[in-house]
Amino acid sequence: MSRYRIGNEADFPSNQVKACQAGGHNLAVYALRDGYYATQAACPHLKAPLAKGKVLDDRLIQCPWHRARFDIRTGEVMDWANFPPGIQMLNVVRKEKALQTYPIKVEDGVLYVEIAD
Ligand code: FES
Repeated sequence: MSRYRIGNEADFPSNQVKACQAGGHNLAVYALRDGYYATQAACPHLKAPLAKGKVLDDRLIQCPWHRARFDIRTGEVMDWANFPPGIQMLNVVRKEKALQTYPIKVEDGVLYVEIAD
């Protein structure tokens, strides 16, 4: 497990998502009410940048392209791609896939992400 500094708390406004890089991994980092979370940066559907998506209800990230929704804390798929109408036809080949998540620790106002080697 390696640990990477990704910024200060002030860099992560609450209820928002931001793109970060750590140890060669692209991440989306979220500031929620109970703390900070990180997931892979690219949507597992067709690789849209989740940092351009919307944080909903202090809980979900909605993909900016086809509106798949994932639980930020667990990476679980809550709704798969469903926009525009007809995109579901692709789902035969692009099956539901959860987001990889990464733990974040805060020490003295500095955020660190932990990534398995
Ligand atoms: S790229 Fe995210 S739902 Fe299609």
